[in-house]
Order: sequence, then structure tokens, then C-alpha cells
Amino acid sequence: MGRDVIVACDFPTAEETFAFLDKFGGRKPFVKIGMELYYAQGPEIVRAIKERGHKIFLDLKLHDIPNTVKRAMSVLSRLDVDMTNLHAGGGSAMMEAALEGLTRPDGTRPLLIAVTMLTSISQQTMNGELGIGGEIQDTVMSYAKNAAGAGLDGVVCSPLEAQAVHSACGDKFLTVTPGVRFADSERGDQQRVMTPAQANAIGSDYIVVGRPITAADDPVAAYERCIQEFTTGGNL
Ligand code: C5P
Repeated sequence: MGRDVIVACDFPTAEETFAFLDKFGGRKPFVKIGMELYYAQGPEIVRAIKERGHKIFLDLKLHDIPNTVKRAMSVLSRLDVDMTNLHAGGGSAMMEAALEGLTRPDGTRPLLIAVTMLTSISQQTMNGELGIGGEIQDTVMSYAKNAAGAGLDGVVCSPLEAQAVHSACGDKFLTVTPGVRFADSERGDQQRVMTPAQANAIGSDYIVVGRPITAADDPVAAYERCIQEFTTGGNL
């Protein structure tokens, strides 16, 4: 798999999701299924979207003791998704166990990506509430290194961190970056954003794009624009 745009299907029901995906006709975007849709519709929604021919990033952010995560990942591996994730904050033993659980009997497995520090956590919250000292950037980098050390494939991070992650963990270690907006569109609740072309320039491997596509008047055109800007670096 190479660089791609992953469309965040943040819809509350299967009907809305299918109505959205139907607009794309024969085009099959890589889609992200998050907690909202998964908890509302269960594993069946994953099977149905897979059957339609999409690649899937199952974004459930697992975080528990190693044995529980291993067993849960083993169940998820049967859903045949292409990418899934967990919280790096669960520690290296949990990440290693997850990888083991996710690996199918034939040795294949989905890509496993770690969430470092949620972008909703501020420096103040990390230091004062979570009891983690130092700079947030340092925690992100140390979590990314732990994930790489545990054998994971990459991290979800802010586009602003992608370069540093690649320098520390290698070019092949994937960076999956949300917070992408077109130069001329609404930011919504995303504070620190980049355009698809900027994300390309800083070496992001996958961009996760929700509302700029799902809420567009013409989602297919918005998706095509996103792909075009991200893959060619045009319209920086
Ligand atoms: O609509 P928007 O483009 O902001 O959607 C971005 C997607 O990426 C959402 O599904 C959101 O939950 C997810 N995400 C994020 N920031 C993170 C991690 C995930 O926006 N740090």
C-alpha cells in the first residue's frame, strides 16, 4: 500500500454510510470506520463495506491489559480490515501482544498503527492531570519510538509531527495524519491544520479526511481534489 487518502466515515448509521459511499459509483475510497459507526452497527458494517470493495482502517483505539488486547485483536483480524489501531499509552508489552493477536494463522495481518498523544490533550492536561512531565512533543516521540520498537507499522499523529517521527523511526514507519483542510475551506474544530499538498510535502503517508469530503456539496469532487493535491503536491 502506498500513500492514500482515507475518508473518515463518521456517520451514525449504516444507511447514511451507504448513501454516502453510493455517490462514488465504481470509485472505492479507503475508508475509516470509527467508534460511532462500529458501536452502532457492529462488525457487520465492516463486512458490508469490505464486500463493496473498500480498504478499511478500523479506528477503535484499543487500550487494556496485554492479554485482553491480544484476544480482541485476534477477533478483529478475522474482519479482514487493512489497518487498525491502539493507544501507545498502553505500553510496549500491550503493543507486542496486540501484534501477536492480530497476526492470522497464515502470517498475514492488517497494518497496526499507534495513537500517540491525543491531539485533544494539551500540555497543561498532560503535565497536571495525567502526571506526565516534560514537553508533549517529547512524549509523542517517545511513544512513537516505543511503537516502532514493538514492531508496529506506524503512528497516528499531527501532520506537524510527521517529519520528526520519520526522522526518529525511519522512512518506512508510517505516519497517518488527520487535521487536513483545503486552503479555502472551514477548519471546524481542528486547530492545527494542513492542506493535502502540505501533508504531501512533509511526507505524510496517509491523510485522514472527514468533513472536507463528507460535508461537501459534491463529496466525490472533494475526494478527487484531495487525492490530486495529496499525490501531486499541487496547490500548496
Ligand atoms: O472531519 P475531520 O476531517 O476533522 O475528521 C478527522 C477524523 O480524524 C475524525 O474521524 C477524527 O476523529 C479523527 N482524528 C482527528 N485527530 C486525531 C485523531 C483522529 O481528527 N488526533
